[in-house]
Amino acid sequence: MNIIEVKNLKKVYHDGETSTVALDDVSFDVRKGEFLAIMGPSGSGKSTLLHLLGLLDVPTSGSYHFNGKNVTTFTPDELADLRNREVGFIFQAFNLLPRTNVLENVKLPLYYSNIPEHEWEKRAMEAVESVGLAHRMHHKQAELSGGERQRVAIARALVTEPEVIFADEPTGNLDSKSGKNVMAVIQHLNEEHGKTIVLITHETSTAEHAERIIHLMDGVIESDVRVKDRLTAEDEFVK
Ligand SMILES: Nc1ncnc2c1ncn2[C@@H]1O[C@H](COP(=O)(O)OP(=O)(O)O)[C@@H](O)[C@H]1O
Ligand SMILES: [Mg+2]
Repeated sequence: MNIIEVKNLKKVYHDGETSTVALDDVSFDVRKGEFLAIMGPSGSGKSTLLHLLGLLDVPTSGSYHFNGKNVTTFTPDELADLRNREVGFIFQAFNLLPRTNVLENVKLPLYYSNIPEHEWEKRAMEAVESVGLAHRMHHKQAELSGGERQRVAIARALVTEPEVIFADEPTGNLDSKSGKNVMAVIQHLNEEHGKTIVLITHETSTAEHAERIIHLMDGVIESDVRVKDRLTAEDEFVK
């Protein structure tokens, strides 16, 4: 079963007199539970593609079926509703609220979901535990390392139990040790919890955690290959 099906996707940005074709004739499927990495040089259309797939923007032309639904016909409200229920995001900048503790940061997406309020606390605590931060539950951002902040962002992406997690350069701001821990958490979500992951990275070592890599170049798919020697998630975090 495919969670994502895109056909002939095109995105053109208009900026005054100039127009930029950011994506052109992009077609592929992602099956439920797959871990896909998208690579490509700066300006090749990676973020544009992630925004379209993550229901944050709409294509200029082409079709997109998400979980069997033709979302190109959706209104902005319908897109927002689907996004809040079925999609989680992890960005390079962690986007945490600085004066708010870990538990409250992770609870945020629940305010926009249709999950009953009496479940929020339990759900948020479980999400924090699942990224190995139970001992940091009531700490604020300033008291956390970069790697821990990104794991809070992962817990926040998970708390609504979305079908798909989209990650745009999740290790981009981290040292290599923290980056490895974050990738171990992401791979664990894929392998143990069956989450579909679509991850953008320019690092080959990060992409090799995925099962499949799509390379973009100037807005078109240059290659779409299976990863032969996939990296494994470490059983324990690097200390
Ligand atoms: N909001 C925008 N308005 C105009 N041009 C944009 C916008 N966003 C991206 N672009 C252009 O689209 C192309 C693809 O950008 P992007 O998807 O951000 O690539 P990447 O993430 O691979 O670096 C680039 O030429 C970029 O300048
Ligand atoms: Mg980008």
